[in-house]
Amino acid sequence: MDIDEYFELDADPDVHLYLTSQPVQNKQQIADSIQFIRQQYIDNGIGRWAVIDKRTNAFMGWAELKLIAELTNNHINFLDLGYRLIKKYWGQGFATEAAQASLTYAFDVLQAPEVFAHAHAENIGSNKVLSKAGLTLTGSFVHHGIKCNWYRIDRKDFQR
Ligand SMILES: CC(C)(COP(=O)(O)OP(=O)(O)OC[C@H]1O[C@@H](n2cnc3c(N)ncnc32)[C@H](O)[C@@H]1OP(=O)(O)O)[C@@H](O)C(=O)NCCC(=O)NCCS
Repeated sequence: MDIDEYFELDADPDVHLYLTSQPVQNKQQIADSIQFIRQQYIDNGIGRWAVIDKRTNAFMGWAELKLIAELTNNHINFLDLGYRLIKKYWGQGFATEAAQASLTYAFDVLQAPEVFAHAHAENIGSNKVLSKAGLTLTGSFVHHGIKCNWYRIDRKDFQR
């Protein structure tokens, strides 16, 4: 289990700067979160992946293709790309690599027609990751009171 590292990730206010969620207060919240992710695998066949440092086997954070079942920017039941890394791993290209690996899985394994993503408009790092991974900025919308950019990629764009 990666509870200690997962706690380091999710207790950090800087990590949550552009997220709607709040930093966690204790490790029980992390254990509950891991349980919730396991249930997603059972319910949807897909969920968060741990991002692991191949040099050390350390947990660096996560990347995911999440099946979103709530209406979001006029879309429902779509695959959403996301990622979150412990601060010490920022700025080294890892989120871009994880995003690209997630898209490869979406199109090559899941045979998904398209993948979406959204990021806080001021979250420069995340907006750059999505562009570098090949997604196209197609608009913006207000999500939980926050202006977010909306991105999309389909199989044709991914293979190009
Ligand atoms: C956003 C996040 C995933 C970026 O991860 P990362 O591994 O640092 O991203 P990369 O190294 O792949 O960087 C991609 C590009 O963004 C740039 N970038 C990354 N963080 C940046 C920042 N805070 N400000 C400006 N540019 C930034 C990088 O320089 C790189 O650009 P370049 O190739 O032109 O040099 C990471 O900061 C994080 O986990 N943040 C907290 C959680 C979060 O916001 N998740 C996304 C929610 S939508």
